[in-house]
Amino acid sequence: MTLAERIGQLNLLAAGEGLATGAGGDSPLAKRLDEGMVGAVFGTKSRASARAMQERAVKGSRLGIGLFFAEDVIHGHRTVFPLPVALACSWNMDLVEETAAFAAAEAAAEGLHQVYSPMIDIARDPRWGRVAESPGEDPVLAGRIAAAMVRGYQGDDPAAPGRVAACLKHFVAYGATQSGRDYDNASLAWEELLGVYLPPFADGVAAGAASVMAAFNAVNKLPMHAHRELIEDWLRRGEGFGGLVVSDYTGVMELTAHGLGPREVAVIRALSAGIDMDMVGEDYLASLPGLAEAGLSAPEAGLEVSAGEVRELIDRACLRVLTFKARMGVLDDPFARLGEGTAPARAAGVALAQRAAAESAVLLRNEGVLPLAETARVALVGPFAEDCANMLGTWAVSGDAREVCSLREAVERVAGRAVPCVTGANVVAEPWLIDRLNVHGTTVALDERPAEEMIAEAVAAAGAAEVAIVALGEAKEHAGESSSVLAPALPAPQRALLAALLETGTPLVVLIFAGRPLALGPEAAQADALIYAWHGGIRGPDGVADLIYGRAAPSGRLAVTLPAHPGQVPLHHSEEPTGRPDPGRFQKFRTGWLDLPDGAAGFPFGFGLGYGKVAYGAPQARGTGPVEVEVTVRNTGKVAQTETVQLYLSDPVARITRPARWLADFRRVTLAPGESATVAFTVTREMVSYWIAPSLEEAERVSDPGEIVLHTGPNSRDTQSVSVTWRG
Ligand code: NOJ
Repeated sequence: MTLAERIGQLNLLAAGEGLATGAGGDSPLAKRLDEGMVGAVFGTKSRASARAMQERAVKGSRLGIGLFFAEDVIHGHRTVFPLPVALACSWNMDLVEETAAFAAAEAAAEGLHQVYSPMIDIARDPRWGRVAESPGEDPVLAGRIAAAMVRGYQGDDPAAPGRVAACLKHFVAYGATQSGRDYDNASLAWEELLGVYLPPFADGVAAGAASVMAAFNAVNKLPMHAHRELIEDWLRRGEGFGGLVVSDYTGVMELTAHGLGPREVAVIRALSAGIDMDMVGEDYLASLPGLAEAGLSAPEAGLEVSAGEVRELIDRACLRVLTFKARMGVLDDPFARLGEGTAPARAAGVALAQRAAAESAVLLRNEGVLPLAETARVALVGPFAEDCANMLGTWAVSGDAREVCSLREAVERVAGRAVPCVTGANVVAEPWLIDRLNVHGTTVALDERPAEEMIAEAVAAAGAAEVAIVALGEAKEHAGESSSVLAPALPAPQRALLAALLETGTPLVVLIFAGRPLALGPEAAQADALIYAWHGGIRGPDGVADLIYGRAAPSGRLAVTLPAHPGQVPLHHSEEPTGRPDPGRFQKFRTGWLDLPDGAAGFPFGFGLGYGKVAYGAPQARGTGPVEVEVTVRNTGKVAQTETVQLYLSDPVARITRPARWLADFRRVTLAPGESATVAFTVTREMVSYWIAPSLEEAERVSDPGEIVLHTGPNSRDTQSVSVTWRG
């Protein structure tokens, strides 16, 4: 291969408008394809368009090397499943794997080789809009999800029919950015990086993920697109990752804005950090030919590379691209996926989407009102009662809102008759904020009717009904990329609606359709039933209707802590103890907030109710490491229930501060009424040990002898404990 051909392989472009088979055309992409200057394309919207690009690429390349095709398949492809954060709330890895496998089959049938998923950024700050795409706040849960999704996408072989290559993203600590602002930087202890943010990537790599995408943020002063120590040393040498690393969208170019130096410096920093492909910016394409001739001396950036070193870096990256292509079968036959592919049966996907939506929704409160009788005279009120587009959630780039069945349709289907419905966009948020939030689109278009008018009508409808189903939340554009908010809370106009509805005395079933954990406020705490339904995909409302009417049993558990107040964030269940805990020695001088109202309570990580009732026995432990622990659970209720039994650990004495408790393992069991089960866990050294890390290089994983407390229960708060002496 010539130098130019090798550099061309590193260029990763967006499809834009696409191409038509057999067409000429001189779009910038078409021109590049003719020159053989593209290695891969993402965002092709059809197999025909991908085929047209492949034809040009193969013709344009002297050696006939084909492109590979990628897409943002984040929570389903054509069949849109619940948001990733919602699916995480199912705690059901078989379900997670099944949704990924279905998405893979749909994507492969359209000629795609790679999906930009799973997104496995630990997200502990609900201000950050990309919580929606995340597996939630916990590294153990996220690690299981990473592995399940990689299995679902890739199966045993990502090149097999119906499979695609997974891409773990965003490497790393994108969820830890400052103040929840998107694209900002992360400064965190190395212990936290190693113990919280990196483990899901280790699990994804262990599951065989074929590729990784770098994150936009800096980690401890160094932007990830220039972080050789994390990419080349930790990921490749440390974890044995042998696949492809791609940049994020113009991530190489953005090193300049980060302050690392001009284009040539950015290119060398990224290439030597191990970024094999440059997405969209074309900085590799523009700079590498010259750099490969002359090298680079940039003392102001502390950089000195010879032309020979640049050529070696180009070869290294090119080899990785070609190895990926070989693994995906592109070198054998660039058109293999571009013939008559068969997509999986749509009906199966729709049924899976409905089940996934029911399993992802979390029942937070039920004062005996649910499940509803199908004959109950219900009224539907709230801004999302008749909504379709928002149910898809963020990053559903290939979804179609016309395929979504609204809550109204779903409820009417079950109830078998028309139900009164009062909706209106003006209560979603303050109008100025709706306008501001709509920068990405117009899913919430303000309507003529003032909010007060809608509230009055909603009150009248609720007052005349036996039960009011209240559909609240946020629009899909309000949670996602570049959609950070200052106050992750139910907006004031929706709280006003809820307050007015509470006055009617009609029992309220409140549904929250959202992309992030929102502080719901005191009104929601008075609802007779409360379900966190997230943005549930094409069958989100049907899944919720199934729960409301008892056609499906609630089993979801929060994968993120729900704040009591928006000012509490960031927050999560495994915070470290302080020297002045609450309750502790002091009334006044303690950790906490003066203005957090008394009794304000969110919902803890792992929390979720069912329609059954499960009693937990005390945990019994034996051994000194590994430790075997058993807990007996019994369904004392009248209906079957799927229970997620959770095991947390704490280490009361350690060399550094450790989380007050952390999730070690969990197991789902389904219990018939009156049935009991004994759930056994093994506490391993890996679960107990922790990192001491003055730097990445000096990081050491230790486990000390002494007391370990094991906590078992239905969520991270309501647990029973037993202590063991760890000697393992
Ligand atoms: C930017 C996003 O950060 C990333 O998640 C996505 O895969 C790329 N754009 C490509 O669309």
